[in-house]
Amino acid sequence: MSRTLQTDGRGQLRTVDQTLLPFEWREIVLADAHACREAIVSMRVRGAPLIGAVGAFGLALALRNDSSDAGLACAQAWLASARPTAVNLAWALERLRRRVAGVPPAERAQAAWEEAERLCDEDARCNHQIGEHGARLLRQAARVEPTPQQPLQVLTHCNAGRLATIDHGTALAPIYQLHAAGVAVHVWVDETRPRNQGASLTAWELAQAGVPHTVIADNAGGLLMMRAEVDVVITGCDRVAANGDVANKVGTYLKALAAADNGVPFYVACPVSTIDPDTADGASIEIEIRGAREITHARGRLADGRVAEVALMDERVKAINPGFDITPARIVTGLITEHGVVAANGQAIAAVLAQALRLSAAGAGNPS
Ligand code: MRU
Repeated sequence: MSRTLQTDGRGQLRTVDQTLLPFEWREIVLADAHACREAIVSMRVRGAPLIGAVGAFGLALALRNDSSDAGLACAQAWLASARPTAVNLAWALERLRRRVAGVPPAERAQAAWEEAERLCDEDARCNHQIGEHGARLLRQAARVEPTPQQPLQVLTHCNAGRLATIDHGTALAPIYQLHAAGVAVHVWVDETRPRNQGASLTAWELAQAGVPHTVIADNAGGLLMMRAEVDVVITGCDRVAANGDVANKVGTYLKALAAADNGVPFYVACPVSTIDPDTADGASIEIEIRGAREITHARGRLADGRVAEVALMDERVKAINPGFDITPARIVTGLITEHGVVAANGQAIAAVLAQALRLSAAGAGNPS
Protein backbone atom coordinates (compact mmCIF):
# COMPACT_ATOMS: atom_id res chain seq x y z
CA MET A 1 0.00 0.00 0.00
CA SER A 2 1.39 3.40 -0.93
CA ARG A 3 1.41 6.50 1.25
CA THR A 4 -1.96 7.80 2.42
CA LEU A 5 -1.23 11.26 1.04
CA GLN A 6 0.50 11.80 -2.29
CA THR A 7 1.47 14.88 -4.22
CA ASP A 8 1.36 15.00 -8.00
CA GLY A 9 3.44 17.02 -10.45
CA ARG A 10 0.76 19.73 -10.67
CA GLY A 11 1.04 20.64 -7.02
CA GLN A 12 -2.16 18.89 -6.01
CA LEU A 13 -2.78 16.35 -3.26
CA ARG A 14 -4.30 12.92 -3.67
CA THR A 15 -5.73 10.80 -0.90
CA VAL A 16 -8.56 8.38 -0.22
CA ASP A 17 -11.98 9.45 1.04
CA GLN A 18 -12.03 7.56 4.35
CA THR A 19 -15.74 8.18 4.90
CA LEU A 20 -16.43 5.63 2.14
CA LEU A 21 -14.31 2.80 3.55
CA PRO A 22 -14.52 -0.14 3.91
CA PHE A 23 -17.05 -0.43 1.11
CA GLU A 24 -15.40 1.77 -1.49
CA TRP A 25 -11.85 2.94 -2.20
CA ARG A 26 -12.24 6.31 -3.91
CA GLU A 27 -9.36 8.64 -4.45
CA ILE A 28 -9.95 12.36 -4.10
CA VAL A 29 -7.89 15.32 -5.25
CA LEU A 30 -7.41 18.22 -2.87
CA ALA A 31 -6.68 21.08 -5.24
CA ASP A 32 -6.91 24.09 -2.94
CA ALA A 33 -6.97 25.16 0.69
CA HIS A 34 -10.77 24.95 0.87
CA ALA A 35 -10.70 21.31 -0.26
CA CYS A 36 -8.05 20.54 2.36
CA ARG A 37 -10.05 22.12 5.16
CA GLU A 38 -13.27 20.49 4.02
CA ALA A 39 -11.57 17.07 3.95
CA ILE A 40 -10.46 17.55 7.58
CA VAL A 41 -13.84 18.84 8.80
CA SER A 42 -15.82 16.08 7.07
CA MET A 43 -13.27 13.44 8.20
CA ARG A 44 -12.51 12.31 4.66
CA VAL A 45 -9.03 12.53 6.17
CA ARG A 46 -8.66 11.92 9.88
CA GLY A 47 -6.12 10.78 12.46
CA ALA A 48 -3.81 13.26 14.14
CA PRO A 49 -0.71 13.02 11.90
CA LEU A 50 -2.71 12.94 8.67
CA ILE A 51 -4.78 16.01 9.47
CA GLY A 52 -1.54 17.80 10.39
CA ALA A 53 -0.10 16.97 6.98
CA VAL A 54 -3.24 17.94 5.06
CA GLY A 55 -3.43 21.18 7.03
CA ALA A 56 0.19 21.93 6.13
CA PHE A 57 -0.45 21.46 2.41
CA GLY A 58 -3.63 23.50 2.82
CA LEU A 59 -1.55 26.39 4.11
CA ALA A 60 0.87 26.06 1.19
CA LEU A 61 -2.07 26.12 -1.24
CA ALA A 62 -3.61 29.14 0.52
CA LEU A 63 -0.33 31.03 0.10
CA ARG A 64 -0.65 30.66 -3.68
CA ASN A 65 -3.58 33.08 -3.49
CA ASP A 66 -2.39 35.41 -0.75
CA SER A 67 1.17 35.20 0.53
CA SER A 68 1.11 38.44 2.51
CA ASP A 69 1.72 38.40 6.29
CA ALA A 70 -2.00 38.96 6.85
CA GLY A 71 -2.89 36.18 4.40
CA LEU A 72 -0.53 33.80 6.17
CA ALA A 73 -1.97 34.56 9.62
CA CYS A 74 -5.53 34.33 8.38
CA ALA A 75 -5.02 30.99 6.57
CA GLN A 76 -3.20 29.54 9.58
CA ALA A 77 -6.04 30.40 11.98
CA TRP A 78 -8.73 29.27 9.54
CA LEU A 79 -7.12 25.89 8.93
CA ALA A 80 -6.33 25.36 12.62
CA SER A 81 -10.01 25.79 13.47
CA ALA A 82 -10.99 22.76 11.37
CA ARG A 83 -10.61 20.35 14.32
CA PRO A 84 -9.51 21.31 17.84
CA THR A 85 -8.24 18.26 19.73
CA ALA A 86 -5.36 16.75 17.72
CA VAL A 87 -2.40 19.06 18.32
CA ASN A 88 -0.65 17.88 15.15
CA LEU A 89 -2.80 20.24 13.09
CA ALA A 90 -1.82 23.38 15.04
CA TRP A 91 1.76 22.08 15.30
CA ALA A 92 2.12 21.53 11.54
CA LEU A 93 0.63 24.93 10.69
CA GLU A 94 2.91 26.70 13.17
CA ARG A 95 5.92 24.83 11.79
CA LEU A 96 5.10 26.07 8.27
CA ARG A 97 4.47 29.62 9.50
CA ARG A 98 7.89 29.69 11.15
CA ARG A 99 9.48 28.29 8.00
CA VAL A 100 8.02 30.92 5.64
CA ALA A 101 7.69 34.02 7.85
CA GLY A 102 11.19 35.23 6.92
CA VAL A 103 10.86 34.31 3.22
CA PRO A 104 9.86 36.94 0.61
CA PRO A 105 6.09 36.67 -0.05
CA ALA A 106 6.61 35.65 -3.68
CA GLU A 107 8.54 32.55 -2.57
CA ARG A 108 6.38 31.55 0.39
CA ALA A 109 3.99 29.16 -1.35
CA GLN A 110 6.82 27.06 -2.77
CA ALA A 111 8.76 27.10 0.50
CA ALA A 112 5.65 26.02 2.39
CA TRP A 113 4.95 23.21 -0.07
CA GLU A 114 8.48 21.88 0.31
CA GLU A 115 8.23 22.07 4.12
CA ALA A 116 4.95 20.13 4.01
CA GLU A 117 6.67 17.46 1.92
CA ARG A 118 9.49 17.28 4.48
CA LEU A 119 6.93 16.97 7.27
CA CYS A 120 5.38 13.99 5.48
CA ASP A 121 8.74 12.29 5.00
CA GLU A 122 9.48 12.78 8.70
CA ASP A 123 6.10 11.38 9.70
CA ALA A 124 6.75 8.20 7.73
CA ARG A 125 10.26 7.91 9.19
CA CYS A 126 9.10 8.54 12.79
CA ASN A 127 6.33 5.99 12.49
CA HIS A 128 8.76 3.40 11.24
CA GLN A 129 10.91 4.06 14.31
CA ILE A 130 7.85 3.88 16.57
CA GLY A 131 7.21 0.51 14.97
CA GLU A 132 10.69 -0.72 15.88
CA HIS A 133 10.54 0.45 19.51
CA GLY A 134 6.96 -0.74 19.89
CA ALA A 135 7.58 -4.17 18.36
CA ARG A 136 10.19 -4.90 21.05
CA LEU A 137 7.81 -3.87 23.84
CA LEU A 138 4.82 -5.72 22.51
CA ARG A 139 6.88 -8.85 22.05
CA GLN A 140 7.95 -8.62 25.71
CA ALA A 141 4.32 -8.38 26.81
CA ALA A 142 3.48 -11.86 25.48
CA ARG A 143 2.49 -14.14 28.35
CA VAL A 144 3.45 -17.22 26.38
CA GLU A 145 5.78 -17.72 23.40
CA PRO A 146 3.53 -16.63 20.49
CA THR A 147 2.43 -19.40 18.13
CA PRO A 148 -0.34 -19.36 15.52
CA GLN A 149 -2.46 -21.26 18.08
CA GLN A 150 -1.58 -18.87 20.92
CA PRO A 151 -0.63 -15.59 19.27
CA LEU A 152 0.41 -12.38 20.99
CA GLN A 153 -2.94 -10.76 21.82
CA VAL A 154 -3.07 -7.01 21.23
CA LEU A 155 -6.08 -4.76 21.73
CA THR A 156 -6.40 -1.40 19.98
CA HIS A 157 -8.99 1.34 19.92
CA CYS A 158 -9.93 3.58 16.97
CA ASN A 159 -7.63 3.67 13.94
CA ALA A 160 -4.01 4.60 14.38
CA GLY A 161 -2.79 2.80 11.30
CA ARG A 162 -1.50 3.87 7.90
CA LEU A 163 -4.76 5.63 7.13
CA ALA A 164 -4.32 7.95 10.11
CA THR A 165 -0.78 8.88 9.11
CA ILE A 166 1.37 9.28 6.03
CA ASP A 167 2.64 5.72 6.32
CA HIS A 168 3.02 2.76 8.72
CA GLY A 169 0.65 4.16 11.36
CA THR A 170 1.55 4.73 14.99
CA ALA A 171 -0.20 2.09 17.13
CA LEU A 172 -0.35 -0.34 14.21
CA ALA A 173 3.28 0.15 13.15
CA PRO A 174 4.66 -2.29 15.78
CA ILE A 175 1.98 -4.82 14.86
CA TYR A 176 2.91 -4.62 11.17
CA GLN A 177 6.57 -5.08 12.03
CA LEU A 178 5.92 -8.10 14.26
CA HIS A 179 3.73 -9.66 11.60
CA ALA A 180 6.40 -9.05 8.95
CA ALA A 181 8.99 -10.65 11.23
CA GLY A 182 6.88 -13.79 11.47
CA VAL A 183 5.67 -13.29 15.07
CA ALA A 184 2.15 -14.66 15.48
CA VAL A 185 -0.02 -11.71 16.47
CA HIS A 186 -3.78 -11.28 16.72
CA VAL A 187 -5.49 -7.93 17.17
CA TRP A 188 -8.72 -7.28 19.05
CA VAL A 189 -10.18 -4.30 17.19
CA ASP A 190 -12.62 -2.10 19.12
CA GLU A 191 -15.36 -1.13 16.69
CA THR A 192 -15.09 2.47 18.01
CA ARG A 193 -18.58 3.87 18.00
CA PRO A 194 -19.91 6.21 16.89
CA ARG A 195 -17.89 6.53 13.67
CA ASN A 196 -16.56 2.99 13.72
CA GLN A 197 -12.96 3.77 12.82
CA GLY A 198 -12.00 0.37 14.24
CA ALA A 199 -14.54 -1.69 12.33
CA SER A 200 -14.33 0.35 9.11
CA LEU A 201 -10.67 1.33 8.94
CA THR A 202 -8.46 -0.69 11.32
CA ALA A 203 -10.09 -4.00 10.38
CA TRP A 204 -9.81 -3.05 6.70
CA GLU A 205 -6.13 -2.16 7.03
CA LEU A 206 -5.25 -5.28 8.98
CA ALA A 207 -7.05 -7.42 6.41
CA GLN A 208 -5.07 -5.77 3.60
CA ALA A 209 -1.86 -6.61 5.48
CA GLY A 210 -2.96 -10.15 6.32
CA VAL A 211 -2.79 -9.59 10.10
CA PRO A 212 -5.27 -11.83 12.00
CA HIS A 213 -7.84 -9.72 13.84
CA THR A 214 -11.30 -9.79 15.36
CA VAL A 215 -13.66 -6.83 15.76
CA ILE A 216 -15.27 -6.53 19.18
CA ALA A 217 -17.94 -4.23 20.58
CA ASP A 218 -16.35 -1.34 22.43
CA ASN A 219 -17.57 -2.65 25.77
CA ALA A 220 -16.12 -6.16 25.36
CA GLY A 221 -12.48 -5.29 26.06
CA GLY A 222 -12.86 -5.32 29.85
CA LEU A 223 -14.10 -8.91 29.88
CA LEU A 224 -11.34 -10.04 27.52
CA MET A 225 -8.73 -8.45 29.78
CA MET A 226 -10.24 -10.04 32.87
CA ARG A 227 -10.03 -13.43 31.14
CA ALA A 228 -6.34 -12.87 30.28
CA GLU A 229 -7.14 -12.79 26.57
CA VAL A 230 -5.27 -9.52 26.03
CA ASP A 231 -1.49 -9.31 26.51
CA VAL A 232 -1.14 -5.63 25.78
CA VAL A 233 -3.20 -2.59 24.76
CA ILE A 234 -1.80 -0.04 22.32
CA THR A 235 -3.54 3.05 20.98
CA GLY A 236 -2.57 6.18 19.09
CA CYS A 237 -3.27 9.61 20.45
CA ASP A 238 -4.31 13.11 19.50
CA ARG A 239 -2.44 15.09 22.12
CA VAL A 240 -0.17 14.36 25.07
CA ALA A 241 -0.16 17.10 27.72
CA ALA A 242 3.05 18.20 29.42
CA ASN A 243 2.25 16.01 32.44
CA GLY A 244 1.66 12.88 30.35
CA ASP A 245 -2.15 12.88 30.24
CA VAL A 246 -3.35 11.58 26.88
CA ALA A 247 -6.27 12.66 24.70
CA ASN A 248 -7.45 10.01 22.27
CA LYS A 249 -10.64 8.72 20.70
CA VAL A 250 -13.49 8.52 23.19
CA GLY A 251 -13.45 5.13 24.92
CA THR A 252 -9.68 4.98 25.27
CA TYR A 253 -9.89 5.91 28.96
CA LEU A 254 -12.16 2.95 29.73
CA LYS A 255 -9.71 0.58 28.03
CA ALA A 256 -6.86 2.03 30.08
CA LEU A 257 -8.88 1.61 33.30
CA ALA A 258 -9.64 -2.00 32.48
CA ALA A 259 -5.99 -2.58 31.59
CA ALA A 260 -4.82 -1.08 34.89
CA ASP A 261 -7.29 -3.17 36.86
CA ASN A 262 -6.14 -6.36 35.15
CA GLY A 263 -2.38 -5.76 35.07
CA VAL A 264 -2.31 -5.39 31.28
CA PRO A 265 0.27 -2.89 29.92
CA PHE A 266 -1.35 0.12 28.25
CA TYR A 267 0.90 1.85 25.70
CA VAL A 268 0.28 4.98 23.66
CA ALA A 269 2.15 5.32 20.37
CA CYS A 270 2.82 8.82 19.12
CA PRO A 271 5.44 10.92 17.36
CA VAL A 272 6.95 13.64 19.52
CA SER A 273 4.96 16.15 17.43
CA THR A 274 1.84 14.92 19.26
CA ILE A 275 3.25 16.07 22.61
CA ASP A 276 2.07 19.57 23.46
CA PRO A 277 4.33 21.24 26.03
CA ASP A 278 1.99 24.25 26.08
CA THR A 279 -0.89 22.21 27.50
CA ALA A 280 -0.29 21.57 31.18
CA ASP A 281 -2.63 18.62 31.66
CA GLY A 282 -5.52 16.69 30.21
CA ALA A 283 -8.15 18.98 31.72
CA SER A 284 -6.77 21.81 29.57
CA ILE A 285 -7.27 19.92 26.28
CA GLU A 286 -10.26 21.00 24.23
CA ILE A 287 -12.44 17.99 23.52
CA GLU A 288 -14.21 18.18 20.17
CA ILE A 289 -17.97 17.79 20.45
CA ARG A 290 -19.25 16.32 17.21
CA GLY A 291 -22.76 16.16 15.79
CA ALA A 292 -25.45 14.10 17.52
CA ARG A 293 -26.29 12.48 14.20
CA GLU A 294 -23.14 10.35 14.48
CA ILE A 295 -24.82 8.73 17.52
CA THR A 296 -28.39 8.60 16.32
CA HIS A 297 -27.60 7.25 12.84
CA ALA A 298 -25.22 4.71 11.33
CA ARG A 299 -23.97 4.04 7.82
CA GLY A 300 -23.75 0.55 6.43
CA ARG A 301 -24.31 -1.73 3.46
CA LEU A 302 -27.84 -2.92 2.82
CA ALA A 303 -28.70 -6.42 1.66
CA ASP A 304 -28.99 -5.18 -1.94
CA GLY A 305 -25.43 -3.85 -1.83
CA ARG A 306 -26.28 -0.16 -1.55
CA VAL A 307 -24.55 1.84 1.17
CA ALA A 308 -27.02 3.88 3.19
CA GLU A 309 -27.49 5.72 6.44
CA VAL A 310 -30.15 4.45 8.82
CA ALA A 311 -31.66 5.86 12.00
CA LEU A 312 -30.82 3.85 15.12
CA MET A 313 -33.35 5.51 17.41
CA ASP A 314 -36.41 7.65 17.56
CA GLU A 315 -35.72 11.03 15.97
CA ARG A 316 -36.68 12.87 19.20
CA VAL A 317 -33.92 11.19 21.21
CA LYS A 318 -31.26 13.60 22.47
CA ALA A 319 -27.63 12.60 22.06
CA ILE A 320 -24.29 14.18 22.88
CA ASN A 321 -21.09 13.19 21.15
CA PRO A 322 -17.68 14.01 22.65
CA GLY A 323 -15.12 12.78 20.14
CA PHE A 324 -12.23 12.18 22.55
CA ASP A 325 -11.46 11.49 26.20
CA ILE A 326 -8.54 11.89 28.55
CA THR A 327 -6.51 9.03 29.95
CA PRO A 328 -4.62 10.15 33.06
CA ALA A 329 -0.85 9.71 32.92
CA ARG A 330 -0.90 7.49 36.03
CA ILE A 331 -2.50 4.61 34.09
CA VAL A 332 -0.40 4.95 30.93
CA THR A 333 2.42 2.38 30.99
CA GLY A 334 4.51 4.35 28.50
CA LEU A 335 4.55 6.53 25.40
CA ILE A 336 6.18 4.90 22.39
CA THR A 337 7.84 7.67 20.37
CA GLU A 338 10.36 7.75 17.55
CA HIS A 339 13.00 8.38 20.23
CA GLY A 340 12.09 5.34 22.27
CA VAL A 341 9.74 4.64 25.15
CA VAL A 342 9.04 7.59 27.39
CA ALA A 343 7.40 7.45 30.82
CA ALA A 344 4.16 9.41 30.96
CA ASN A 345 5.35 12.09 33.37
CA GLY A 346 6.49 15.70 33.12
CA GLN A 347 10.18 15.02 33.64
CA ALA A 348 10.52 12.28 31.03
CA ILE A 349 8.43 14.27 28.57
CA ALA A 350 10.54 17.40 29.02
CA ALA A 351 13.65 15.27 28.45
CA VAL A 352 12.41 13.74 25.19
CA LEU A 353 11.30 17.14 23.90
CA ALA A 354 14.75 18.52 24.65
CA GLN A 355 16.32 15.56 22.88
CA ALA A 356 14.11 16.12 19.83
CA LEU A 357 15.09 19.80 19.76
CA ARG A 358 18.79 18.94 19.95
CA LEU A 359 18.47 16.45 17.09
CA SER A 360 16.49 18.93 15.07
CA ALA A 361 19.11 21.63 15.61
CA ALA A 362 21.74 19.12 14.48
CA GLY A 363 19.62 18.50 11.37
CA ALA A 364 19.01 14.87 12.18
CA GLY A 365 15.55 14.64 13.65
CA ASN A 366 12.01 15.76 13.76
CA PRO A 367 11.64 19.44 14.73
CA SER A 368 8.99 19.72 17.40
O1 MRU B 1 -11.68 11.40 15.05
P1 MRU B 1 -10.48 10.74 14.44
O2 MRU B 1 -10.79 9.55 13.60
O3 MRU B 1 -9.57 11.73 13.73
O4 MRU B 1 -9.68 10.21 15.72
C1 MRU B 1 -8.48 9.54 15.51
C2 MRU B 1 -7.88 9.04 16.75
O5 MRU B 1 -8.36 9.25 17.85
C3 MRU B 1 -6.58 8.34 16.60
O6 MRU B 1 -6.46 7.30 17.52
C4 MRU B 1 -5.46 9.35 16.82
O7 MRU B 1 -5.64 10.46 15.99
C5 MRU B 1 -4.14 8.76 16.59
S1 MRU B 1 -3.84 8.54 14.86
C6 MRU B 1 -2.30 7.95 14.63
